[in-house]
Amino acid sequence: MENLVNLNIKFWHNKKIIITGHTGFKGAWLSLILSIFGSKVYGYSLKPNREQKLFKLFNLQNKLMDSKFANILDYNSLKKFCKKVQPDIIIHMASQSLVIDAYKNPRINLETNIQGTVNLLDVSDNLSNLKVFINVTTDKVYQESNSKYPFKEIDILNSNEPYGISKVCSDLITQSYNSFKQGKTKYCVVRSGNVIGGGDFSKNRIVPDIIRSYNSNSKLNIRNPDHIRPWQHVFEPLNGYLKVIEYVYDKKITKNLYSWNFGPKKNSFISVLKLIEKFNNLKKLKYTFNSKYNYKENSYLALNSNKAKELLNWSNYLTIDQIIKSVLEWNDIYLKNNQKEIELLSINHVKDYFLR
Ligand SMILES: NC(=O)c1ccc[n+]([C@@H]2O[C@H](COP(=O)([O-])OP(=O)(O)OC[C@H]3O[C@@H](n4cnc5c(N)ncnc54)[C@H](O)[C@@H]3O)[C@@H](O)[C@H]2O)c1
Repeated sequence: MENLVNLNIKFWHNKKIIITGHTGFKGAWLSLILSIFGSKVYGYSLKPNREQKLFKLFNLQNKLMDSKFANILDYNSLKKFCKKVQPDIIIHMASQSLVIDAYKNPRINLETNIQGTVNLLDVSDNLSNLKVFINVTTDKVYQESNSKYPFKEIDILNSNEPYGISKVCSDLITQSYNSFKQGKTKYCVVRSGNVIGGGDFSKNRIVPDIIRSYNSNSKLNIRNPDHIRPWQHVFEPLNGYLKVIEYVYDKKITKNLYSWNFGPKKNSFISVLKLIEKFNNLKKLKYTFNSKYNYKENSYLALNSNKAKELLNWSNYLTIDQIIKSVLEWNDIYLKNNQKEIELLSINHVKDYFLR
């Protein structure tokens, strides 16, 4: 099937894929995309919490082959599930993914993101059909630099906050499996920054906060208005992750293929304040600045994605204005409180992007 994003849709047909974190924001979208491509998707996550509405809205219970609600720290349950599925591909997204929650409870964060990854890697080692293991980490794995330098995959990883360091460890441990296991499974890590899209209701993330403020008609408290962030639609890195899998599936993997950046377009690097203004131009927003916020976050994060562009023919397709428009469109339908309508709109968004 021909399509603008250059994915080989036939490749995905009938592939058995485990997605951990399928009830989360990225995981739910990826589960929907792969079910549209005809893959056999199996999900392993905690039960969706109050903010994680996509699992239900996308009707994933009926789209997936199996959906297991359990803790990734429960080694026996994870092992049993993976052995039963015998996947061709694992995409690991189960993670404590919120920076502030990690500050408040570093132990849970470190345990989930590090030991959870170790559990899955250990289990994966005994899965005879498994060809590719992808671990979704983050742009926050790179050691902070004061210059406005876009990080390359070979740059130093380090962090001085708990979420970042948990992902650094998870990232490096995953890559190391290529060296000391040297089996048929390829272990890759994929790194991207903040993503935006319909249906992200997580706490303390700026776009969900904007949407919440619209939906409850309340004032938005903005932390770090001057921070420059890369803003990117969730489909762009997800497309990249799928391209990595297609690319390495039948290849002998070498070190330069272990890690991949998927950053946004150059002109999508704008400050939090500028983002707020863009939303405000399309739909009036009430906001104020929160001077009490004192958790440390990197103030500038940019990724160099040349490797993905050159080897995978990957690129970003959506402008920041198109992204904001699509988030607002999604939210307007969401507010009508009609599950079928939001499921159909979401399927159409996937088809518009991936199957054009
Ligand atoms: N959303 C972003 O902007 C962004 C940016 C960079 C990296 N990431 C990374 O992408 C991945 C997915 O992010 P997201 O935004 O979808 O996260 P999310 O918080 O929306 O979802 C997290 C998922 O992990 C699962 N999970 C958490 N703890 C678990 C446990 N102990 N056992 C089993 N499952 C558990 C949850 O049930 C959920 O399905 C994460 O690894 C995150 O670090 C996200």
